Amino acid sequence: MDKVAILKHKTEEAKLGGGQKRIDSQHKKGKLTARERLQLLLDEGSFEEIGMMVTHRSRDFDMEKEVYLGDGVVTGYGTINGRLVYVFSQDFTVFGGSLSETHAEKIVKIMDLAMKNGAPLIGLNDSGGARIQEGVVSLGGYADIFYRNVQASGVIPQISAIMGPCAGGAVYSPAITDFILMVENTSYMFVTGPNVVKTVTHENVTSEELGGAMTHASKSGVTHFACANELECIENIKRLLSYMPQNCEDDAPVYDYEMGDESRAELDSIIPANPNQPYDMKEVIDHVVDSGSFTEVHKDFAENIIVGFARIAGRSIGIVANQPAFLAGVLDINSSRKGGRFVRFCDAFNIPLLVLVDVPGFLPGTDQEWHGIIINGAKLLYALSEATVPKITVITRKAYGGAYDVMNSKHIGADLNFAWPSAEIAVMGAKGATEIIFKKEISEAADQYSKIAEKEAEYIDKFANPYGAAGRGFIDEVIMPADTRKKLIKGFKMLENKVASMPKRKHGNIPL
Ligand code: HXC
Repeated sequence: MDKVAILKHKTEEAKLGGGQKRIDSQHKKGKLTARERLQLLLDEGSFEEIGMMVTHRSRDFDMEKEVYLGDGVVTGYGTINGRLVYVFSQDFTVFGGSLSETHAEKIVKIMDLAMKNGAPLIGLNDSGGARIQEGVVSLGGYADIFYRNVQASGVIPQISAIMGPCAGGAVYSPAITDFILMVENTSYMFVTGPNVVKTVTHENVTSEELGGAMTHASKSGVTHFACANELECIENIKRLLSYMPQNCEDDAPVYDYEMGDESRAELDSIIPANPNQPYDMKEVIDHVVDSGSFTEVHKDFAENIIVGFARIAGRSIGIVANQPAFLAGVLDINSSRKGGRFVRFCDAFNIPLLVLVDVPGFLPGTDQEWHGIIINGAKLLYALSEATVPKITVITRKAYGGAYDVMNSKHIGADLNFAWPSAEIAVMGAKGATEIIFKKEISEAADQYSKIAEKEAEYIDKFANPYGAAGRGFIDEVIMPADTRKKLIKGFKMLENKVASMPKRKHGNIPL
């Protein structure tokens, strides 16, 4: 064979991964191959592969007899909607996508390129973890990747799609990245699979229960998106990227937006007459952001807080909002963790924050205290205090207790604080407060019920409104709900060139 013929032959061989039989088996499971996934993810014809001819170096366990070009991972770069990205896509047809020394070297190479050139890194993971036959060199390979994930954190966006069973090291690299997406019924994430679990803990558990997409989307919060299939997963990656800059020194893309009448009359009637009746904060979001621009992150986890990306007048923002329709929008351990992590992503990548507040306080009780609501609630407080991006708050209804402080109050650095006339800003709700501060008067009253009612009314009159806070300047303006979008467009525009810095230090010590 001449040299050109050899190249053609080798290229075809590499593209087959672990062979046609294994590709067919992958398809039968409802999974695409590593290359098919990249084809869907990247702009047509934009993919440039790096390291196609790399093979493993293992000579133990007869491994020299099984050598595949590319060694179980396709790596390179391409574009998504014209923007440069670096990608790796693991090939389950080659030793279950397991990570050998050379497989790791290929990933490391494109991670280094992504960092040097300031562009996002996208990993399509489908891997049984460290390649068992290679021992410590595969563990070392993982550590090389983990180290780079950490170096890249906050410098370039890192997105991990889980598109098959991922175990061991294959879950820790995604865990360090910014966003994880999983595919329902075909992807799993666990430190060790059900067989090992049974041996160690005697638990009988299926892969789906232990580490399926819905388990991690709703119970552990490990994944941010549970996608119905691989196509949806890939589309979600593209949509996510549309809100993000290429790196921490860049700004997110700005989309065309034609201004019209930005009043939203529907918002004037969204707050129920009864302050204890729930309403859906997602409706508020839909009425303040550009039409159809909201993408919810972590939709099925800690639903008492909503986080997600949207655009206002064509510009990316991150939203953190209490959800009164779920657990009355209370702050608990999971919602604080969820909110805190999202805020830190936005702050790292210059995405302004909008915080919508309707929060009765922190969730009390032994379960929360014993699992550390103090330290976990502090994560959201820390993240919002630390964020230097433009920050705007709108209090729609309740802002009680410590949660008032935490939810982007003026005191922790918010730039603009708005409140609707329905806002209630106080240390606690009327009932609890009355029972404490008027205890003596109530116990001495001839008609205790009337006394309680009278004192509650007095308290509501004083505190169940935004005017006390506005009088102090803690609220910049009390606005009609219908005007919220207009105010936000102007506010974020006014803050576009905000410059703020933190004190010089190595890094803060967020309560982990
Ligand atoms: C080498 C592996 C492999 C691995 C799978 N294969 N995992 N080869 N090293 N880690 C191979 C299988 O031998 C098989 O080869 C092919 O991939 C497909 O695997 P199956 O088991 O047939 O597929 P499936 O039934 O879909 O199960 C997938 C799986 C399972 C759940 C991933 O293979 C599994 O449990 N693998 C081990 C997972 C694990 O414990 N890894 C942890 C490694 S330690 P043939 O030739 O038969 O097709 C680690 C530590 C890192 O990662 C440090 C982190 C901090």
